[in-house]
Amino acid sequence: MSKFYLTTPIYYVNDEPHIGHTYTTVIADVLARYYKLVGYETFFLTGTDEHGNKIQEVAKKNNLEPKTYCDNIVEKFKIAWKLLDIGYNNFIRTTDDYHEKTVQYVLQKIYESGDIYKKYYEGLYCIHCEKFISEDELVDGVCPDHKVAPVIHKEENYFFKLSKYKDIIYEKIKSSEIKIYPETRRNEILGKLELEVEDISISRKTLKWGIVLPFDSEQTIYVWIDALINYLSGIDYFGIKGQPLPHLWPCDLHLIGKDILWFHAVIWPGLLLALKLPLPKQILAHGFFTINGQKMSKTLGNVIKPKQLVDLFGIDATRMLLISNFPLGVDGDFSIDDLRKRYNTELADNLGNLITRTFGMLDKYFSSNLEVKKPSLEVYQKINECVKEYENCFSSLQIHKIPQTILELTSYANWYVQYKTPWILFKEAKTEELKQVIFDLLYCIKASAVLFYPVMPNVTLKIFEILNEKFNESVFVDLVKRSEIYIASNKFNKSEILFKKI
Ligand code: MSP
Repeated sequence: MSKFYLTTPIYYVNDEPHIGHTYTTVIADVLARYYKLVGYETFFLTGTDEHGNKIQEVAKKNNLEPKTYCDNIVEKFKIAWKLLDIGYNNFIRTTDDYHEKTVQYVLQKIYESGDIYKKYYEGLYCIHCEKFISEDELVDGVCPDHKVAPVIHKEENYFFKLSKYKDIIYEKIKSSEIKIYPETRRNEILGKLELEVEDISISRKTLKWGIVLPFDSEQTIYVWIDALINYLSGIDYFGIKGQPLPHLWPCDLHLIGKDILWFHAVIWPGLLLALKLPLPKQILAHGFFTINGQKMSKTLGNVIKPKQLVDLFGIDATRMLLISNFPLGVDGDFSIDDLRKRYNTELADNLGNLITRTFGMLDKYFSSNLEVKKPSLEVYQKINECVKEYENCFSSLQIHKIPQTILELTSYANWYVQYKTPWILFKEAKTEELKQVIFDLLYCIKASAVLFYPVMPNVTLKIFEILNEKFNESVFVDLVKRSEIYIASNKFNKSEILFKKI
């Protein structure tokens, strides 16, 4: 059986989950559901990044021990993912015992291989980025991303010989052994790799809230090194937890935001090369979004929490609207008002209306009872075109296009109603023709319900209930991989309004 191992970043617990985290996590869930349906052994890993300066500081501000503080926020992440029907296989916390042991094991191995050395270092450090920052990167003396002045950091730390692996990493990206999407970001990384790459500090002497270095108990491990290793501990690669799934490595897709691409495309492969492990196959760095044109921030008070969207649009529509708001690789803007407009046109007026009118006619003309007919050639071809386009969205990771692709089929079906004018066929007692039209519409509805499953699983199940059928993997595979579409029942249930206009 083929496998598909995909990950989201593990999120910092300095804050509750917002729609930035939700965006990445929902995309991952859509992909995971798809790969599961088409028969891959799918493993979807997410979790939380809990060590480091930043977390230590917020815990202190809240008068809590760091671990207690983390426990509270982790619960909020888990509640948010439950609310959005996120079906991860493992939720890893960097404070989990098996993760901490894995990190120590990995560092010991790299240390023994000779790729770690000790050196005195002085530099500017942005605690919000949790990284060293150079003078040239500052804008008016502050970190351009966080608008906060960095602190001077002087210490004797351990360093990882990243520079030793720079050329190999360059080659692996150039030859697409590691694929990076989008292309522009891949080129940015290649460009940066053509310049000098410095070794990186991997430990902290003064920071207590971290995993202790196995070969020097005076120092804790740099939070980013600790965090990246979650991709191995999350599948218990070394069997430290006693549930090893090493066959899942290498990871098939790391989904991340563009802000953390360097860590994933360069530092992570560096560590893996030092460990002599295969490199991740694909990294997709999505864009960042703003809210009504402004950066989302607590200070501006414009942070949108996933629950706000779910309260407005429901679970499924929230998932659908989030992933398709703008092309995956680029930056975009969010406005609740735009989402509301899209909800009304795409879901209430298009998909919702198609369902209400089709089952309304089925009830009115045939009392929801009708013997099965094959789809007309035109409709069959239209469905197949849609499936092809849909498959293409997954293979090219154009996740944002999935809803639009399906909605083209439902738009077509709505047009088909106007074009075929079933109410005239009814008046003129052209019963066979009328049956065909209704059946064609049912095929379009069923196909769109099947295809929507990875994005809006509950909507699919509701439509299947009306169709009086059960949704399962084979229905999905039949349509998506075999172009087979059938209606199994000839007795249908009444439809409810799936998307009330807002
Ligand atoms: N803990 C690190 C990641 C370690 S992975 C080994 C981290 N965490 S984070 O909480 O800051 O989350 C970063 C991720 O959240 C981003 O890469 C992105 O996936 C998502 N987003 C956070 N804010 C976002 C936006 N405003 N827009 C889009 N995605 C955003 O970095």
